[in-house]
Amino acid sequence: MLSSLANLLTTSWAVILTWAEGIGSATRLAGAGLRAARAPGGLKGNAGSLLAEPERQRQVLAVLRAFAPNISLKRQLVKAYENTGTVIVTRREDVLDVLSRDADFEVVYEPRMRKLTEGENFFLGMQPGWDYTRDVSAMRLAARRPDVEEIVLPRATALADDIVGGSFGRLDLPPQLTLEIPWDMTETYFGAGGPDKATMQDWTTTMFWYLFGDLGADPALEAKALGHAADMRTWLDEAIASRKAAPTEAPDLLNRCLALQSAGTPGMSDLGIRNNLLGLLIGAIPTISKASCLALDAILDRPEALELAQKSARAGDDTRLAGVVWEALRHNPHNPVIYRRATRNTVIARSTLRELHVKKGQIVFAATLSAMYDRFDIDAPGSFRGNRRFEDHIIWGTGMHTCFGAAINAAVIPAILKPVLAQPNLRRADGAAGRIDTGGTPFPQHFTVLFD
Ligand code: HEM
Repeated sequence: MLSSLANLLTTSWAVILTWAEGIGSATRLAGAGLRAARAPGGLKGNAGSLLAEPERQRQVLAVLRAFAPNISLKRQLVKAYENTGTVIVTRREDVLDVLSRDADFEVVYEPRMRKLTEGENFFLGMQPGWDYTRDVSAMRLAARRPDVEEIVLPRATALADDIVGGSFGRLDLPPQLTLEIPWDMTETYFGAGGPDKATMQDWTTTMFWYLFGDLGADPALEAKALGHAADMRTWLDEAIASRKAAPTEAPDLLNRCLALQSAGTPGMSDLGIRNNLLGLLIGAIPTISKASCLALDAILDRPEALELAQKSARAGDDTRLAGVVWEALRHNPHNPVIYRRATRNTVIARSTLRELHVKKGQIVFAATLSAMYDRFDIDAPGSFRGNRRFEDHIIWGTGMHTCFGAAINAAVIPAILKPVLAQPNLRRADGAAGRIDTGGTPFPQHFTVLFD
């Protein structure tokens, strides 16, 4: 009886706080909207850049969480993938529910995946079934879990230390460090770094943008991505053929795939190897770079977080450092949503006040950023805590399609940031140079920090 009363009080308090946040966020959004309306270009011209700011996204989501946690729109916000309208889901329970119901909510990427491979699907574009099991299983045998500690992490740590040590107190993070480390991983651990690092970084960044971020279906971006895909396929075909002609003993993914091929493993034909490597490459470089920059950006914005991160980096307390980095990514995540498409008419949050009927074909935006701020499940979501449970973060997906590189990310991102954070008087460069510059893409191109 007493515990029921306590539950009721706690829930009521969470409702009141959620409403208060919703009202506060609506007021701040109205203020920002007014300022944008008065600026050159007006509200229409400035709305895109306004909503690209993570703070504004958090405010919009706070309003939705409070007053319309699940909404359905007739409008098709996504042009890149076929759909019949849009649903936005903001409460953590519902976000996790959508991302776990593969039979009701499917991944949509298949048509663009097939364009990139010129034929086959890649496992992120697949529903549960034999093809998915075959490809993920083979690639898990190639990219083995112990490799992270034995191969990937030592290499990333040594390289990051070298780069930061040789930077003389000024570091433009994306070109000098955060793109360099994951590219090096594709070269030395995947065995497939492309003709040179600039080309591979450009190929993967453009293709990632095309697959996941090009919601408006820009024809110029498609042409560029398909051109890069053709070049990457040719390069991978040649890399596979020349490795077969001149075998090596390197413990890399290409050799592991070829060993699986010799053993007759399903999915490991030359074409299968090429397509699986292509999919992995696209996911690996721009993501790690962007997440590293966003985490550092969020840490630099918060003096207590910076102090904690610097203390942990200098003391070699990797667990605490990682906790700070994941918390920074909770506030400033790589992707604020993951989207799916309803395979049939269905219901979200059945028998609750927020119950929503979803129509077959609607794209469902599962707002992971919102889920990580939902105070019904997350304690003091607005505060920065370096010691939260990892499960409070949804920073590389959840459910069947949880990031294949999760263990790599967990090791490599802190390894990239540790030597930077260990530096004395770490700060942003003055002016625009000290802020993330995406150069009109979804990925950081420049972001300069200084240290003594
Ligand atoms: C911080 C870096 C990264 C972030 C933020 C990230 C994010 C994500 C997210 C959100 C998903 C789920 C997509 C969905 O459910 O629709 C995903 C899946 C995936 N990621 Fe990553 N990723 C990162 C790094 C990597 C790396 C390093 C690799 C390659 C080694 C990789 C390969 C993949 C693959 C293959 C999938 C599909 C998994 C499946 O379908 O089972 N990612 N990633």
